[in-house]
Amino acid sequence: MSDMSATKQLAGDMNSPAPQHSEIPLGTSTDNNVSSTNNNMSTWAMSNLQKLNVTELYTQQRQSLRPWLDFFNTNQFKPPANIKAGARRLVFNVEHFQTNYFIVIIILSIYCIITTPALLFILLAMGAGCYLVSLKNHESPLTIMNHQIAISQQYLAVFCLCVPLLLMVGAGSAIFWILGASVFVIFLHALFHQTPNQEAFGVQMEEMAPSSDYILEFKIDVFKTLKIVGITTGVLTAIGLGAYYIHRRTQSSKRVILRDEVRNILRPFQLTEEQLRRVMANLNTEMTNGLKSDDTENLDLAMFPTYVHHGPSGQESGEYLVVDLGGSNFRVSHVSIEGRNRMRLNNKIFLIPHSLLLGEGEKLFDYIAECLQRFIDDNKLSLLKSANYKFDLAFTFSFPCKQTSLREATLVSWTKGFSCTSVVGNDVVLMLQQAIDRRKGLKIQVVALVNDTVGTLMACSSIYRDCKAGVILGTGTNACYFENLDNVPKWTGVRDNIHKQVIISTEWGALGRHGCLDFIRTDIDRELDESSLTPHQQVFEKMISALYLGEIVRLIIVDLVQRSILFPGRMQKSPSIRPDYNIFLILRGSFYAKHVADIENDTTEDLSITTTILTSIGIHDPSYDDCYIIREVCKTVSLRAAKLAAAAVAVLINRLNMSSVTVAIDGTLFRHHQQFKHNLTRTLGRLVPRTHRLVLSEDGSSKGSALVAAVDRRLKTAPMTYDKTNLPS
Ligand code: GLC
Repeated sequence: MSDMSATKQLAGDMNSPAPQHSEIPLGTSTDNNVSSTNNNMSTWAMSNLQKLNVTELYTQQRQSLRPWLDFFNTNQFKPPANIKAGARRLVFNVEHFQTNYFIVIIILSIYCIITTPALLFILLAMGAGCYLVSLKNHESPLTIMNHQIAISQQYLAVFCLCVPLLLMVGAGSAIFWILGASVFVIFLHALFHQTPNQEAFGVQMEEMAPSSDYILEFKIDVFKTLKIVGITTGVLTAIGLGAYYIHRRTQSSKRVILRDEVRNILRPFQLTEEQLRRVMANLNTEMTNGLKSDDTENLDLAMFPTYVHHGPSGQESGEYLVVDLGGSNFRVSHVSIEGRNRMRLNNKIFLIPHSLLLGEGEKLFDYIAECLQRFIDDNKLSLLKSANYKFDLAFTFSFPCKQTSLREATLVSWTKGFSCTSVVGNDVVLMLQQAIDRRKGLKIQVVALVNDTVGTLMACSSIYRDCKAGVILGTGTNACYFENLDNVPKWTGVRDNIHKQVIISTEWGALGRHGCLDFIRTDIDRELDESSLTPHQQVFEKMISALYLGEIVRLIIVDLVQRSILFPGRMQKSPSIRPDYNIFLILRGSFYAKHVADIENDTTEDLSITTTILTSIGIHDPSYDDCYIIREVCKTVSLRAAKLAAAAVAVLINRLNMSSVTVAIDGTLFRHHQQFKHNLTRTLGRLVPRTHRLVLSEDGSSKGSALVAAVDRRLKTAPMTYDKTNLPS
């Protein structure tokens, strides 16, 4: 209704002794009869409902539909002057816009239903059932044992049959959602929408004598409206509450029983803050011990000096090749550093055949050289180079190496499932250089060996001046940080004003080798360790990193199956699924960290993501209970890993002892596993009060390694004087 017509209407209303009932939906002629003879709402409703047929009802409702332009007219949205005016406006608008509000409720319901496909499906099935009933009754009435069943009873039966299904697919929550959303929208609209008529009535109510017929009828209408709204809301709320209660009862009762059954198995994985602080103390002691001596046999942590003494200054430049070997793939990159830490990166991932991971070391290095050749040819990198040009190559080699210079590094042991022969004890830089030199025409010199943690730190410290630590939380875990050489008694290299600090690769994944983590290790941890390629090594890494998280979960699942807590009876009853189960139950490494992350994040009501993942690994049709338990297992194992990682990062931050510090982090767990990252950040906040920032280091192990080579090249061409900016404060 336009302002103009509203004003006219208003004038008419004010002059006329009898109000325009057509403007007040409940004030139809039928209403008037009732209100003048009987004010009992239920009698009114029943008698009217019986009289009205659907078409009449529809016509009446259509007539009381207010123009949508008026409904949405933002000029009319004003807060009420006071609570009384607000209450009056609320009552008036609910009645004035009742049909519009009804349509809003329908739209919200449709939205809710179509976004819950299972609900939509059951409702369609219910509709189809009712349609069939009506068809059937059209032909002949339904008779059971000589007793004719009324059509309304048949509809009721269809409805009753569908109720459990509706509850199962979350109709309870849907009703709540619709109820909540509708009440919210309608309340706000009714409170803020200022309808000219209503304001006029407001004036009238104040100005006219209380005995006025008009006000009496208005009050009766308001009273009726309030009753209708009250009863409708009450009924809907009761249905919603009932449905929700039943729904929660079925869910929560399951929850309680399941928790009781699995709690004992999961308890050893739940670490207290006290235990974490003990881990921190032990890690700190082992770090200090590792800085004193190279006795890797008797010490937990190797604490390797990396011969990287300075972060980038922003004056580095040049182009570099980087080979990044550390996981089941390796990556070749071409990095151009264009000054002021601007970098361009072009890279390619090459798969490493499994046979190479466990075969002859020389073959692995030959394969790397072959891939380097392919990369240079595919990208035509030699095109504009002179015949004598040699590429500088930084070798990101993410395994424990004892370095004697930036380009000399002896592999101490393999980790992360690698086990090539004839490499441990040898200089891996030399091995790569020899493999490159074996390929005629490949002109490359290996200028630096870089651990992935060091690359991560360097890439980030080119952006954040206070970045003094790098951490990898991926296939494996390790950390490095800038340490003052005064704190490194075992350092035998140069000590002067330029070499006052060095990046130490802690190799913290090895913590616990001599028992300092036994107080938190579980039977499952021991079982995993014993069956691994490297028993008694990388104890800490085996509790945290992505390579092992899935396996820990798998071993717990196997334990739960053996105790008949998971998939009870399925193994015996369904021989057809046994082979698949067996693959999962027997095959080490068949459950991945990605599965853990996805299951942990499964917030679907029926745990459908968990079901899909379990099905994909051969566990068909797991029950809700099975999925629920497995999600609990994943959450617990992942939380333990995040807490342990937090404890370790906390030690780094404490050791750096800076007023504020940035820690560069990379690796799949931190990059892709949101819950892990969240738990890590939260736990860290509790463990260290110091200001700190965790930053994802993008392409750290490639860009950062190129930066190591670039810093080295810069220092050779323009030796630096003492650089204060790189020292921890
Ligand atoms: C393993 C390696 C270590 C590496 C880490 C992350 O722990 O021993 O050198 O940094 O994995 O890749």
